[in-house]
Amino acid sequence: MEEEEMCSHARAALAKRKALEEIDIHSVDASSDNEFGHEAIKDHFADAYNNVADKSSSRGNAKIASILMRKLGYTDEEMKIIGSDANLMQGTGNPHIAANIQEGEIVIDLGSGFGVDAFVAADKVGKSGKIIGIDISRSEVDISQKRSKDRGLEDIVTFREGDIEDIPLRDSYADCVMSNGGFCLVPDKIKAFSEIFRVLKPGGRMSICCTTNRVELPKNVDWPVCMNVFMKLNEIEPMLKKIGFTDINIDLSNSRMDLWDLEALDVQEEISNLDPKEREKYTKEAYEKRKEDSSVHSGSERFQHLEEFDMNELCARVVITGRKNHEKIKTNPSLNQSVRSNIPNLRHPILDNNLDKNYFSEEEWLKAITKSKVVFFGERHNNSAIIDSQMRVLLEISDFAKYRGLRGDGSGNVSLVMEQFITPDQQDELENFISTGIPSEKMKDMGGFEWEKYRKLCNLAYELGNVKIYAGFPSRTKAVSTVVREGYEKGVLQAIEEGSLRTSQDYILGTEEHYNVFESMISGRNLNSSDNPTDDYRRIFPAQILKDCVISRIVSDRILLGDSVMCLTGHGHTDFLFGIPERVIQFHPQKFDFCTISCAGKDENNVENLDGQRIADMILEIN
Ligand SMILES: C[S@@+](CC[C@H](N)C(=O)[O-])C[C@H]1O[C@@H](n2cnc3c(N)ncnc32)[C@H](O)[C@@H]1O
Repeated sequence: MEEEEMCSHARAALAKRKALEEIDIHSVDASSDNEFGHEAIKDHFADAYNNVADKSSSRGNAKIASILMRKLGYTDEEMKIIGSDANLMQGTGNPHIAANIQEGEIVIDLGSGFGVDAFVAADKVGKSGKIIGIDISRSEVDISQKRSKDRGLEDIVTFREGDIEDIPLRDSYADCVMSNGGFCLVPDKIKAFSEIFRVLKPGGRMSICCTTNRVELPKNVDWPVCMNVFMKLNEIEPMLKKIGFTDINIDLSNSRMDLWDLEALDVQEEISNLDPKEREKYTKEAYEKRKEDSSVHSGSERFQHLEEFDMNELCARVVITGRKNHEKIKTNPSLNQSVRSNIPNLRHPILDNNLDKNYFSEEEWLKAITKSKVVFFGERHNNSAIIDSQMRVLLEISDFAKYRGLRGDGSGNVSLVMEQFITPDQQDELENFISTGIPSEKMKDMGGFEWEKYRKLCNLAYELGNVKIYAGFPSRTKAVSTVVREGYEKGVLQAIEEGSLRTSQDYILGTEEHYNVFESMISGRNLNSSDNPTDDYRRIFPAQILKDCVISRIVSDRILLGDSVMCLTGHGHTDFLFGIPERVIQFHPQKFDFCTISCAGKDENNVENLDGQRIADMILEIN
């Protein structure tokens, strides 16, 4: 950019900033389409909450705040997590009751403040979930991000600066969007609700605690900006319907504005029990001063006339819930039918002279598959005949999982864990695909994975509606090469840092028997011969084990969450039960049914037997 042009940009920005500062924020008509006015309001709140953040250390008392939070229905367990953070809570209600957050979910907290609700949500989603807090105040984001680190939650909870009217996250990303006191302050509610709708996955839900105006505010009164931006109670439902939300509910059960009233008896009792220094925080003057300092509330001289009004008549705290309509899962009957016409050629692992006798009947293999919690499918990559068979098996597993779910046995879902996807960012692409059915350009062009070949299988996973796809191995990460170059101990630490293993106990060393099989697979030595394995592959063997451990961890976690699992990998990771199956068994304390399928050519018999041990329960015969 030319210097002169730069100067004119800077001048324009300065002039705009000055004009924004000169606006009397409380007189802006928030209901108009006045973009400049809206920007001024958002700037005002960002500044105001930066100010709140700077004064956070002088906030009230956690015990008092806890009494009030319990009135909102926060449970003992939630209060335990919140602990002394209670005095950092600035919300208007309790979003958790309606949000009903589950393990493994992705949750967005809009206007996340100091992160109080985000940390409660983190406990509910556990290690397999994610919470993203969005707030317009840079200082609050910085403080809450640090608090996430202090709580050891930085892998689960992150905070980002952003505007609810323009959420910095991609479409169909979250299972649940919640907000506690942040949504009320947004000037353009239609834009904000549309943004929530956009970032929710189909079927996803919102739980928004906010303050509203019960009535049209009388004109010719000087109202503070926060009341000017509240939406009107009776306008919410039509607005949400128009955007496409279903299952809409506006809960008024905790709607009184004086819920946080310090005059309440139990609060007064607690105040009287405080030591004198703490008690000073609860004189009316100290309370009003805090409000005024934050410049968020209406405690200033200018708004003294508000004392004439009964705020319970004018405003209401509500919890707004709604769901992004899950367009009925479009199962394509003709696709199902064509998938069902795939009859995998599955035979017993041991060949004898009478081949006919060794094939499983459809009834037999269906029984084995549906009885299993996990099907380990050791394949030869990119063979379309194998992929057709995998589609049939996936269809059957999916149907049976739905049935299991209805019976209350398991989640009703299937996790399709695939080696073909190999890095954490690919997991984001997979989640996007499985909720929209549309592969991103990036997904179509992922290294190590041929979209064109696996497209049919992935599309089926989407169509079935209860299947999620998980990326398997960390093969593009540094840990794998560290294992080869510097030994497995260092590699395992790296894998923990990269997030693909949780603890060093997740790494279970390989046995000599396993090395024997691994070496023969690479060198071509016949396993049934009396030749000993060479030592040539000892350096890379631990990297193979690392991959096995990572995918085993993913599979184990999915079993624990009640999913049925289909695990697709190269056959070297599952043959003879070495690698993934043996580790999943070790990770999983309770016994569960599983079956293994491997692939072999019609006359291939050198992989059938290892000291009497079968390569797999079933062999998919390929030509
Ligand atoms: C009343 S506080 C509630 C904070 C937190 N949810 C809690 O319950 O403690 C409102 C929060 O919303 C944020 N906020 C206001 N307008 C916003 C906007 N347009 N986009 C994102 N955050 C916003 C403020 O910075 C502030 O942190």
